[in-house]
Amino acid sequence: MTQVDEPLSVVNAFVAHCQARLEEKLQHWLPPAHTVPTDLHQAMRYATLGGGKRVRPLLVYGTGRALGVDPAGLDPGACAVELIHAYSLVHDDLPLMDDDDLRRGRPTCHKAFNEVTALLAGDALQTLAFYVLGHAPRAPHEDRLRMVETLALASGSRGMAGGQALDLAAEGKELTLPELELLHIHKTGALIRASVLLGIYACPWVDPEHHERLDHYAKCIGLAFQIQDDVLNVEGETTVLGKRQGSDVAHQKSTYPSIMGLSAAKERALELQEEALERLTVFGASADVLRWLATYIVQRRH
Ligand code: IPE
Ligand code: IPE
Ligand code: MG
Ligand code: MG
Repeated sequence: MTQVDEPLSVVNAFVAHCQARLEEKLQHWLPPAHTVPTDLHQAMRYATLGGGKRVRPLLVYGTGRALGVDPAGLDPGACAVELIHAYSLVHDDLPLMDDDDLRRGRPTCHKAFNEVTALLAGDALQTLAFYVLGHAPRAPHEDRLRMVETLALASGSRGMAGGQALDLAAEGKELTLPELELLHIHKTGALIRASVLLGIYACPWVDPEHHERLDHYAKCIGLAFQIQDDVLNVEGETTVLGKRQGSDVAHQKSTYPSIMGLSAAKERALELQEEALERLTVFGASADVLRWLATYIVQRRH
């Protein structure tokens, strides 16, 4: 495995710093809970704050660190991608999609509020993401537009929403491995890839070879992330996961473990982790957060 040069404590401190920074920025951008319509604003805050691993924002900050970008220039992209992610989870849990009652160890948004409020909270989180990108004060106009374009493409029918459509259409069917890979790349991979691209676009100039390597890294960990999600749905524990273990079988979803078996799925995730790490070999210690994230994504237990 690629050597991590910085002591782990430096990486851990950076990760903790970014998580706290993100929390503060999200607090700033989310409408106050006491502002009318209060239920809607409370639901938006409930779905976004106080939970989640923040993997996508960490990828924005980690990519920026690898390229020497000041964290302040990365805040809009980090917030925007997490807002889109939060919206996607609220809608994903609705009865007409996965019908889940537990998320991040708490009742899902529609259980804590109601279905209409959850639907609208998802809508409003999505548009808030683009509002935040539009207000990126440090980015030149053309960089902001590139960020908007990237996030819009990754969230829409050719990205996450398209993946969700494929996922729901596949319930009760047995997919082939290429079909499942396509589904995962859209459903989960697109936003993970966009996170790295948002970090790249916050940098005034990036060597094209470095750009290509970071993009390839992002594609590998995006797929690995969803494979690990499938694995944890089989062998994780509800209390640790913060969401229901076994729900994929209950919903007759095709998953990596269901198609290739549990140990082959784990092996595939590890292969993708190695491929991602290999792409970072030209970077020095500044890419250690990205190395840590590639490993974390596959070894996480929730
Ligand atoms: C869960 O994403 C949904 C998938 C795309 C698999 P995360 O595992 O990143 O969820 P949180 O944000 O940490 O709760
Ligand atoms: C969620 O995928 C992906 C998105 C919200 C885009 P899943 O439905 O597989 O993830 P969990 O298990 O609910 O987190
Ligand atoms: Mg789903
Ligand atoms: Mg789900």
